[in-house]
Amino acid sequence: MMRKKLVVGNWKLHGSLAENEKLMHELVDQLKHLHNADFGICLPYPYLFQAQKILAKTPILWGAQNVSQFYDGAYTSSVSASMVAEFGCTLAIIGHSERRSYSHESNQKAVTRVKRAVDAGITPIYCVGETLAEHELGQAKSVIEEQVLALFGLDDATYAHAKALGLVIAYEPVWAIGKGQAAKPEQAQTMHQFIRALIAKRDKTFAENVRIIYGGGLTPENACTLLTMSDIDGGLVGRCSLNAIEFRRIGEVASDTKQCVVEIVEEA
Ligand code: PGA
Repeated sequence: MMRKKLVVGNWKLHGSLAENEKLMHELVDQLKHLHNADFGICLPYPYLFQAQKILAKTPILWGAQNVSQFYDGAYTSSVSASMVAEFGCTLAIIGHSERRSYSHESNQKAVTRVKRAVDAGITPIYCVGETLAEHELGQAKSVIEEQVLALFGLDDATYAHAKALGLVIAYEPVWAIGKGQAAKPEQAQTMHQFIRALIAKRDKTFAENVRIIYGGGLTPENACTLLTMSDIDGGLVGRCSLNAIEFRRIGEVASDTKQCVVEIVEEA
């Protein structure tokens, strides 16, 4: 099964009108020849309108870094999925580990947010990943299992709609995020394969089609070894998404992994 790779930049709490304008124009230019992968950026809410203005006529998708678990109501500071959809967002990161840890987001809350995104026609990028402590205790698989299986708590209609929208899963080992030190490719592959197998137990066809992307220390230097793994379908990129050249170099690998054969053979 050939799944088209997807590379999404997670800008986190970075940017300003002036910086974004420059970076988005650079990205449009840098990515314009890469047709064999999909690209997107998820940026802070206030800049979604700016992204819509700059990226609307380009192949680059844009999205939010979260959406509220509520539709509307007295929830000061919350931003709903239907609000971000009005700014053309087609992606939303949900359940990122920085949200899970700083804002105590449970699996259940994350899955409710997935539902809100889907109801607004937005493709969720549902993040899973174990912490360093869980990793060291050998609990990675049980943590991931619980996070992934939570998705099956979606009602049937939402689940079907999520699949139709191309719901994405991001495996991001928390111990690798922001450290410039990614998981070893074989280690990441094992977890991606595990996630796909978990989904296959419930839904074989979706397991074949779902894009499971890797995040946590993905760089141009390690992109070849990670993105050539058979169950890694792209990347969620933090630090290196703030530099158009580095993002393009990761994108080049995603768009054409054949170039990596030479590199990997030369390294061996
Ligand atoms: P990183 O972040 O690439 O800086 O490790 C990835 C993420 O948090 O999505």
